[in-house]
Amino acid sequence: MKRAYADRAVFLGDPDFVQIPTELTTKEYAKSLAAGIDPKKPTPPADLAPGITLDQEGGSTTHFSVIDKDGLAVSNTYTLENSFGNRVVVRGAGYILNNEMTDFNPKPGLTTTRGQIGTRPNRIAPGKRMLSSMTPVIVRKDGRAVLVTGSPGGRTIINTVLCVVLNVLEFGMPVRDAVDAPRLHHQWLPDVAKFEGVKEQPELVAKLKARGHAVEAHRQGDAHTIWVDPKTGRYHGAADRRIDGKAAGH
Ligand code: DON
Repeated sequence: MKRAYADRAVFLGDPDFVQIPTELTTKEYAKSLAAGIDPKKPTPPADLAPGITLDQEGGSTTHFSVIDKDGLAVSNTYTLENSFGNRVVVRGAGYILNNEMTDFNPKPGLTTTRGQIGTRPNRIAPGKRMLSSMTPVIVRKDGRAVLVTGSPGGRTIINTVLCVVLNVLEFGMPVRDAVDAPRLHHQWLPDVAKFEGVKEQPELVAKLKARGHAVEAHRQGDAHTIWVDPKTGRYHGAADRRIDGKAAGH
């Protein structure tokens, strides 16, 4: 199947426009495809169509956390939605406009068990701003920033940030551990609890399922975070290892 679909991408289209090799339906060709199958491991998709460049660019949203020597902090979650946003470039300004219109509830009144929301507050209207999940956070104590975090991830963002903030401030975890710790997400609908580390914790998952929770595995967010040690004032940066990024001091 995988090989046939790769060939579909490489060769097939309207025959008035492209020439489809007749070789594809021969037994010899089938044999040559079969010969490439390793029963012990899957073939990487890129190996099946080496002539096609697979786009490596990240999907869209990113987050960065910054703090300067005086404790001034920036927590910035930045989205275009899909790559190149709505594809409109502001002439002379050098930036692209986002495509956040999809964050309005798409169909008035239609709320589905799969998670589409149709409630009134976020219905589209002229001049109205759409509801965003982006949650750039600066936690301050006595007027000073102590934790700077945020994440991409659409509707999971709110819960990703909640996990990091709770891990550091409630559970006292070092910021590195707080960012690395498995995350969880439930967004009301669909009625599924999504977890990282499901494979590593089969007993926990079995208990949750026994209580009637639907559980799914997933990967959640990319929460680049800074924690300020209240005792020393020292900054600790923890880049999230889930997608991309690094911590740096200057
Ligand atoms: O504003 C929002 O909630 C979304 N447009 C954010 C999109 C996003 O995080 C996609 N990220 N992976």
